[in-house]
Amino acid sequence: MRRKIVAGNWKMNNDLTETEGLITDIKKQQRTSDAQVMIAPTFTNLWHAYQALRLSDIEVVAQNMHFAESGAYTGEVSAGMLKSVGINGVILGHSERRAYFKETDEMLAEKVNAALENEMFVIFCFGEELDDRKAGRHEQVVESQIKNGLFHLQASQWKHIVLAYEPVWAIGTGETASPEQAQDMHAFIRQVLETKYGNAVAENTSILYGGSVKPANAEEIFSKPDVDGGLIGGAALKAEDFYAIVNAI
Ligand code: 13P
Repeated sequence: MRRKIVAGNWKMNNDLTETEGLITDIKKQQRTSDAQVMIAPTFTNLWHAYQALRLSDIEVVAQNMHFAESGAYTGEVSAGMLKSVGINGVILGHSERRAYFKETDEMLAEKVNAALENEMFVIFCFGEELDDRKAGRHEQVVESQIKNGLFHLQASQWKHIVLAYEPVWAIGTGETASPEQAQDMHAFIRQVLETKYGNAVAENTSILYGGSVKPANAEEIFSKPDVDGGLIGGAALKAEDFYAIVNAI
């Protein structure tokens, strides 16, 4: 059985005081779903968030990391450093990292390896741009991102991978993929996994949807059979909205 997951990607928002405040608000929320809840604060607040939440059922993950273990990579953070502050999971391949920081499939494959070597799990993001969808090549684009980033893995390593389909045109735009578009893509992704790895990996891998998920649309998107939860940006910055989405599963 694959896990249901709702993860909040805080992006470059919230200083330490704001992080403390949002975590306090999150702890006050009522939980009526059994989805695994995760939050991804910025690097400087991971240690605080880990400390504040380590006795809770909320997992704290990082938004990015470097593939090297250590060395002359000014400004970067390694898997070992994340582990040393209690972090066991990392988001990799977000479209903002790909677009603004020129992260390539090859770099992401190395980052995935570094995470797994350090016994971390990965939320691996991918998604097509609007032009790709208009031209009808959205499935090709997504398939190649998944193949190039992840298909070097052994089937046994997939238990450490969560997929997040985030169409770039739906991120922060208020325009969500329709529940049918999300379902179609998630079913396609599962098919791609099945062809390469067989039924068990395809059925047991959680595939999250991300892109303008809000309390008002979460339930309909999550009701689709191949949508196993969400990666939430803007709406994760308000505890009530985030938990309305968590409880929509
Ligand atoms: P929004 O929910 O703000 O569209 O962001 C989605 C996202 O990029 C999560 O990683």
